Amino acid sequence: MANSCVMCAQTSNRQVQSFLMPGACIRRAGAAFRPCDERESNMSGSAGTMDVYLTGLRNQHAVETQAIGTVKNELGRMEAYPDLHAQMQQEMQRSTTQAARLDDLLAGHGTKASLAKEAVAGTVATVAGFAHMTAGDEVLKNVLAAIGFKAYEISSYKVLIVLAKTVGAAQDITVLEQSMKEEQEMGDWLGSHLPDFVHAYLKQRAA
Ligand SMILES: [Fe+2]
Repeated sequence: MANSCVMCAQTSNRQVQSFLMPGACIRRAGAAFRPCDERESNMSGSAGTMDVYLTGLRNQHAVETQAIGTVKNELGRMEAYPDLHAQMQQEMQRSTTQAARLDDLLAGHGTKASLAKEAVAGTVATVAGFAHMTAGDEVLKNVLAAIGFKAYEISSYKVLIVLAKTVGAAQDITVLEQSMKEEQEMGDWLGSHLPDFVHAYLKQRAA
């Protein structure tokens, strides 16, 4: 049965039953029982890298969740641009799927996404800040922000793939690659349609 570790609060079905550290997960307890110098070098090694990887998965989950909210907010104001509007609807579905994939990956490592909420609030707020513009050229600003956001997501997935390889989570790589490919497709679509948005905006403005 899965329980929360008393030390790191992550869910695990392998708690230590020792009287020294009852309720701690194997990973935390294992690190604590090693000599201090070995423990420090280990935390900068495989256990430390696993922490970095799991935090990265949680951060990306928060980014995907934020993306859903941002697109939802903007959707109504982009109805004058049908191609973009249709892509944004697809983007909401894709981000929902991507967030669910990250949930599954985290569950596979005995943890979950909710721990990350506070930790990533700053990053997400910075990215989301682009979306609250009400200028007349909002569509252009939104598309530029979305291109930047896609570049950020592509790079984030690249980082996660490197980390997954480093910690030996080979089963995660295909899933992360699929999400990265989807981000690239959306980024490419936005970039290649940028001239169309400029013309559509000028047309709207002149009408
Ligand atoms: Fe995404």
